[in-house]
Amino acid sequence: AGSGKFFVGGNWKCNGTKDSITKLVSDLNSAKLESDVDVVVAPPFVYLDLVKASLTDRIEVSAQNSWVGKGGAFTGEISVEQIKDLGCKWVILGHSERRHIIGEDDQFIGKKAAYALSEGLGVIACIGELLEEREAGKTFDVCFQQLKAFADAVPSWDNIVIAYEPVWAIGTGKVATPEQAQEVHVAVRDWLKKNVSEEVASKTRIIYGGSVNGGNCAELAKKEDIDGFLVGGASLKGPEFATIVNSVT
Ligand code: G3P
Repeated sequence: AGSGKFFVGGNWKCNGTKDSITKLVSDLNSAKLESDVDVVVAPPFVYLDLVKASLTDRIEVSAQNSWVGKGGAFTGEISVEQIKDLGCKWVILGHSERRHIIGEDDQFIGKKAAYALSEGLGVIACIGELLEEREAGKTFDVCFQQLKAFADAVPSWDNIVIAYEPVWAIGTGKVATPEQAQEVHVAVRDWLKKNVSEEVASKTRIIYGGSVNGGNCAELAKKEDIDGFLVGGASLKGPEFATIVNSVT
């Protein structure tokens, strides 16, 4: 960990029921969390209100996606205004599942980020390469291209956290080694330095996601440029998520 306050997000993805989410919220409410960490959870849309109303204020609430502009006749979508109306402060954009399963492209994601930021939401901006891209030696190219789409679209980096999530590590139990993650995080920081500004490069938090759990978080957190985590599966278990939050060094 190096830049700014440690940031740990729990991305619950499309998981949970009223019962299981009520239990998870109650476990989070009673967890002991280090004070020097920004903690955010992202429940499925339909439970945002329930979570926001019952979760301790110590933990912020994020949406997992948002519409690209003002709400209206967009069946099935959720607007930034609605997310804010519930008291949520963040939105995850560019998650690999939206890129690769749903088919969102760089430009669309960039526009979403610009709109969410303009309305005052913080953006957890996800980037990351597929296994075949890593094997073809294209990891940096892919990450930089995704980063550039954000950079071209957003007016400011004040309210952005970058999440590096190598797709081969997501939900696979195959976590990146601390060295593999650190290597990309440094490259991303360097890219920001050259292409945005030195200030943005040094201030922007770059968090890692992909099979982070209670057992591997401490080693990852020691790395200079790993400023926190975006956690999927392990964020569905309150005590384990607390262990990850508390891995701040
Ligand atoms: O956004 C977090 C995520 O994609 C990582 O998922 O289950 O590998 O921790 P998981």
